[in-house]
Amino acid sequence: MPGKDEQKNKSQLFLKEGSMKNTFEHTAIDEIINEFGRDPSWVMAILQGIQEKYRYLPKEFFPYISKRLRVSEASIYSVATFYENFSLEAKGKYIIKVCDGTACHVRRSIPILERLRTDLNLSEKEKTTKDLNFTVETVSCLGACGLAPVVTVNDTLYKHVKVEDVKGILANLKEVSNGNN
Ligand code: FES
Repeated sequence: MPGKDEQKNKSQLFLKEGSMKNTFEHTAIDEIINEFGRDPSWVMAILQGIQEKYRYLPKEFFPYISKRLRVSEASIYSVATFYENFSLEAKGKYIIKVCDGTACHVRRSIPILERLRTDLNLSEKEKTTKDLNFTVETVSCLGACGLAPVVTVNDTLYKHVKVEDVKGILANLKEVSNGNN
């Protein structure tokens, strides 16, 4: 776990970067804030609403949220970094999670992960495609060990996945994505 000073430095750096950009959709953020009210105790719910809309928490929103809720940017940053479900990095339209818990690992989840990364030109460091269509992540256990190996794409669960299935899964997602454009 990062020390207090490290966390503080990170927070300051983050806030400095965030304050450099000031063009974003105030209206969309206001709608989310208005849904809950401006009570500081709703920070987490408001961040959740923002993440649902944008699939991550854009750092340039923080000064504005801070002003509207009268909560320090550092507090918002603490909430945003404390909970694993929040992401400060842009994510793809399709978030693919490969389970690498014990049950999935022994049933060869890593080759599935590697195939996804190869086909999408991603790596352990680069998790999201440049067109923001796909994000590939690992999770430790999705609670469906009997169906291992398991992969989820947003809210859809794929069970007993084989490396050979990856091509078809990606082709379907690309087709749906193109159809929606
Ligand atoms: S280990 Fe993958 S679902 Fe539990």
